[in-house]
Amino acid sequence: MELAGRKAVVTGAASGIGRAVAVRFAAEGAELALLDREPAGLEETATAIEEAGGRAHPVIADLGEEPAAVAAMARAIAALGGIDILVTSAGIGLQKRLLDHDLGDFSRIFSVNLFGLFVCLREAGKAMRAAGRGGRIVNIASVAGLRGATGRAAYGASKAAVVNLTQTAAVELADHDITVNAVAPGPIDTPLVEAMHTEATREAWKRALPLARYGEPGDVAAAALYLAGDGARFVTGHVLVVDGGYIAAGIRFALD
Ligand SMILES: NC(=O)c1ccc[n+]([C@@H]2O[C@H](COP(=O)([O-])OP(=O)(O)OC[C@H]3O[C@@H](n4cnc5c(N)ncnc54)[C@H](O)[C@@H]3O)[C@@H](O)[C@H]2O)c1
Repeated sequence: MELAGRKAVVTGAASGIGRAVAVRFAAEGAELALLDREPAGLEETATAIEEAGGRAHPVIADLGEEPAAVAAMARAIAALGGIDILVTSAGIGLQKRLLDHDLGDFSRIFSVNLFGLFVCLREAGKAMRAAGRGGRIVNIASVAGLRGATGRAAYGASKAAVVNLTQTAAVELADHDITVNAVAPGPIDTPLVEAMHTEATREAWKRALPLARYGEPGDVAAAALYLAGDGARFVTGHVLVVDGGYIAAGIRFALD
C-alpha cells in the first residue's frame, strides 16, 4: 500500500474530489482527518472509509474563516497524532460575467479558494517543520487558473493564485523536505459541476477536450496519490493537469 502508516488531512472531504481523495488515500493505508463545513457529507465519507476498514476523523469547520481554519487544523493534527500529507480540495465556484462581478464576489471566492487554503497549508507546514519528518502538500487548483474562460473572473484568479502559492511554498518549504504541488483538474463530474454546468456548457467543454468527456473524481485522486506518494519525492512546485487534454489543445479541425 502506497501510503501505509501516513497521516493525511483532506479538506473539502464531504464531497466530490476531496471525498474521492480521502477514500483512495485510506484504501492505500493512510489514516485520515476529514475537514469540511458539511456535517452530513463528512459523515458519509467517514462511514465509507470505516466500512472499508480504514480510520477517519471528521472535523466540521468553515475554512473561509481564519480562526476556524486554524482550530480545525489543530484538531485534525491532534486526532491523527501528526501530519504527513495535506490535500486542499475545499473550494467554491462562481460563473458570472466579468462585468457583473463585484468585490463581494472576489472576497467570497478568495476567502475559501485562496485564503482558507493558505491557512491550512501554513498550519500543516508548521506542524511538519516541527516534527522534522518532511511532508507532502497537494493543492487542488484548476485549469481555470491556467487559461481564461467565460464567467471565471474571480474563480480563475483565485486558482491562478493557488498555482503561484504552490510554487512559492515549494521553494520555501523545501528546506524542511516538504514538497508542495498542485493538481489542476479540467471538468470533473462532481456536485459543484452539476450545480454550475448547463447542457450548453457541457457541450462546449466536450468540444474543447481532445478526450471529449468529463473526468471522474477518482482521476484527480489518482494524481494526488502520485504527488503524495514515494514516487514523487523529487517533484515539487509542479502543476499536474488532469484535464482530458484541454491545456494541450489549441485549434483542432478535421484533416481530409
Ligand atoms: N469539479 C471540477 O470540475 C473541478 C475542476 C477544477 C477544480 N476543481 C476544484 O476542486 C475542488 C473540489 O471541487 P469539487 O468539484 O469536488 O466540489 P464539491 O462542491 O463537490 O466539493 C467541495 C467541498 O468543499 C467544501 N467547502 C466549500 N467551502 C468550504 C468552506 N468554507 N469550509 C469548509 N469546506 C468547504 C464543500 O462543503 C464541499 O464538500 C475545488 O477546489 C474546486 O475548485 C473542481
